[in-house]
Amino acid sequence: MIKRGLASTHTPVLLAEVLRALAVQPGGRYIDTTLGGGGHAAAILEQSSPGGQLLGIDADPAAIEAARERFQGSGDSILFVNDNYANLQSICIKYDFFPVHGILFDLGLSSLQLDEGGRGFSFQHEAPLDMRFSPGQKTTAADIVNTAPEAKLAGIIRTYGEESQSGRIARAIVQGRPIRTTLQLARVIEQAVGRRGRFHPATKTFQALRIAVNHELENLENALKQAVDLLGYEGRLAVISYHSLEDRIVKQFMQKEARACICPPETPVCVCGHTPTIRLINKKVIVPTTEEIRANPRSRSAKLRAAERIIAPGDCYASTEDHAFLTIAKSQGWRRPALLEKIKIAFIAA
Ligand SMILES: C[S@@+](CC[C@H](N)C(=O)[O-])C[C@H]1O[C@@H](n2cnc3c(N)ncnc32)[C@H](O)[C@@H]1O
Repeated sequence: MIKRGLASTHTPVLLAEVLRALAVQPGGRYIDTTLGGGGHAAAILEQSSPGGQLLGIDADPAAIEAARERFQGSGDSILFVNDNYANLQSICIKYDFFPVHGILFDLGLSSLQLDEGGRGFSFQHEAPLDMRFSPGQKTTAADIVNTAPEAKLAGIIRTYGEESQSGRIARAIVQGRPIRTTLQLARVIEQAVGRRGRFHPATKTFQALRIAVNHELENLENALKQAVDLLGYEGRLAVISYHSLEDRIVKQFMQKEARACICPPETPVCVCGHTPTIRLINKKVIVPTTEEIRANPRSRSAKLRAAERIIAPGDCYASTEDHAFLTIAKSQGWRRPALLEKIKIAFIAA
């Protein structure tokens, strides 16, 4: 578990780029869906002061506990929620926290979860094969490793780990059962496929099991849709991903939401009736500089994508009159609370 007082040891990735992508401004209202060690949250709070508010969510109760400690003294500018971001919309309704100016997803694991060892995320620390973000989840990595049929196990390792040796690894796992700990699993994998390249041969299998245990890809897909609906006019969505499976979901989601037509290319006339809900802020993905990677090697695979909420005439959040109103209001400074309330009314009615 995350130790008390350690929350500040996670170095936030692409911090300046995230603040820019979210266009953080004084008095703004933000959601950090992956609070973790609170690094991004602290910077968002600072830049949104005076008057800024942040709703911080994390599925891991230990992360929330550590964040509460870190942000002692921040008063009611920060709200802590121990929940899964798959429930983003219901969380925001419960806490009456929408529409918002910006939403951040910094996916995956925090350094604290990896380094503390006892959670079973790392093949470098001996621990029970757990890998759950929340102790409330039923299935652990040990359940999958010890009960899944070989073909299913191979499928998980191939799909979520993009591991070319998935069949061989799955066979070795089934033969090596029961496997209870991280180091035991790492040894079984190493014996099955040997050591090649720079990375430990268990890297991809551990990633695959973690994704499967936490339903990471399904939750992400679900949450992105909810996030766009929670953004006020010109609100910003920023997502940092750490592997190609996550990045593909984010990229495809943003590209689709930004398009006016999502008909298959062979359709002669548009029949989809799709209206864009966002515009892409960065056409090219943002990655860390060499200096950042040198200072924080865990940032090396990070990719940041960002988008801005637009409200088109006829979409479910704004009638044509609302759209005209928003256009005028924008020219006068859209971020006035009155305008946010107007959007909120449209949101509730939708
Ligand atoms: C990379 S860390 C975030 C680090 C944070 N941005 C910082 O600067 O300290 C990811 C965090 O997201 C949390 N997390 C992962 N999946 C989640 C989900 N579906 N719902 C809520 N939290 C999740 C993890 O528990 C972890 O604490």
